[in-house]
Amino acid sequence: MSAPSMTLFHNPASPFVRKVRVLLAETGQQNRVALQLCMPTPVNPDVQLVNENPVGKIPALRLADGTVLHDSRVILDYLDHQHVGNPLIPRDGSARWRRLTLASMADAIMDAAVLVRYESALRPPEKHWAPWLDEQRHKIRRTLAELEADAIAELASHFDIAAISVACALGYLDFRHPDLHWRDANPQLAAWYAEVSQRPSMLETQPPV
Ligand code: BEZ
Repeated sequence: MSAPSMTLFHNPASPFVRKVRVLLAETGQQNRVALQLCMPTPVNPDVQLVNENPVGKIPALRLADGTVLHDSRVILDYLDHQHVGNPLIPRDGSARWRRLTLASMADAIMDAAVLVRYESALRPPEKHWAPWLDEQRHKIRRTLAELEADAIAELASHFDIAAISVACALGYLDFRHPDLHWRDANPQLAAWYAEVSQRPSMLETQPPV
């Protein structure tokens, strides 16, 4: 086995990093990437990470030639061009735009869920902005409702960029926001997730307990 040629700046709690790691596992590329742990917060950037990615966000992927890619969407697109199996991001046609839109909905859930996590875990309680927190939670609920109503068959059809992204978003809700009880209003999504969360790629990348 050859040494990894790329470095992924990561944190095991990040759902955006998890998407990248799941795609690596699904496409048999884990051994090409070394993991470098980062601990960025909104008020305390990770110094090593900022040297590679001025935005200071994870994931970032350093390639063998020193080029650094970010954000997760760019990294996923790059990695999907580096394996010989079926693409996990359709290359063209209406499938491409639909699957990327589903993935974008999952990213929006992650964005809102991470922001709620930061606001409630890092910000002093007296500074919490309740209407803003409520709207982030509504955004999550609305997006889940749309996936439940419209996208179950598409998600179940294959484990590609759309399904990986939604699965990682749901995993993060379980990890940081069990109080949202997302399964109660979304039984089909819950049944789909019960199945896909048992895939080796999902089991290997579970957030820390
Ligand atoms: C978290 O601890 O929830 C987290 C850590 C890094 C990135 C995103 C979320």
